[in-house]
Amino acid sequence: MDQEKATFLDSAGFIDIGYERTCECKPTHINCLEAKEWIKHQIGVWQVSYEGKDIRDKKLHPATFPIQLARKVISLFTHKGELVIDPFVGSGTTLVAAQDLDRNAVGFDLQEEYIQLCRKRIGTSNLFSSSKQIAIADDARNISGYFKPASASLIWTSPPYSNLLNRKRKNKSRRDRNNGQLDKVEQYSQDTRDLGILSIEEYTKQIGDIFETLLPVLKPKGHCVINVPDMWWENKRITIHISIVEELRKRGYELRNIIIWDRTNIVNGIGIFGWPSNYITMGVTFEYLLDFWRPELTED
Ligand SMILES: C[S@@+](CC[C@H](N)C(=O)[O-])C[C@H]1O[C@@H](n2cnc3c(N)ncnc32)[C@H](O)[C@@H]1O
Repeated sequence: MDQEKATFLDSAGFIDIGYERTCECKPTHINCLEAKEWIKHQIGVWQVSYEGKDIRDKKLHPATFPIQLARKVISLFTHKGELVIDPFVGSGTTLVAAQDLDRNAVGFDLQEEYIQLCRKRIGTSNLFSSSKQIAIADDARNISGYFKPASASLIWTSPPYSNLLNRKRKNKSRRDRNNGQLDKVEQYSQDTRDLGILSIEEYTKQIGDIFETLLPVLKPKGHCVINVPDMWWENKRITIHISIVEELRKRGYELRNIIIWDRTNIVNGIGIFGWPSNYITMGVTFEYLLDFWRPELTED
């Protein structure tokens, strides 16, 4: 354990952070939402937008989700004061949303530069909140030991997407945009621990291993929401969402909902694909939010 990590730990070696609700909601409620807000969340297709404090510069991080999306997931599945874990936190969007909503949150990423970016983002706002947001550089494979059993109300994350980002960008829209992305390998790293460099089969197994270790950290009926797209590779659809659903079911999670994140309002300048012989829905126009929970009767 290095010096820096030790500063986040309590005397028992767990991260020193709150996880009990600080609101006055009834014990059976799963969140602090009023009926009027709840109704809006019932729709299974979500449209969200990026806002000023989102990071959209691909040089800072190549694949961020909007703070508004993270806020929506966190407010659905947690109460004020409860704990959110993001095992692949990237630029720290989950931590920013948790700070906005007064939730405790811990995010992990392999890359020290992303952890520095997270700390910069959460260090600049909301000094009045009672909750903490912490970013730690570590491999997602190591993180379950940082938490007491049944302490987290939500795991919310967007993991790397198999080795499909790990190739040179050649597609037409990038050529037309002339935006510096052509021929770039848009990947987080070539670190051998990076899940983004694995084949879909190996990736699925390793995602399963990681989430299996995290299951006991969730409270019973605590949710785990995973954001992934599918991909096209040499004219075959790579169904990442199906691989993850099947694998997590094997590892003890129960699938509750599949939500479509409609991204059509944030993609612009799409080139034409497939016409006139091959119909392909553009992966960038929507992604999946796979909502699982820890069933009530699993052991810690
Ligand atoms: C899709 S990005 C997450 C982006 C994040 N949602 C945001 O809004 O900034 C996935 C992240 O997983 C990280 N990563 C890859 N392999 C990892 C591992 N084994 N342990 C922890 N983080 C890992 C990458 O460095 C990358 O930042």
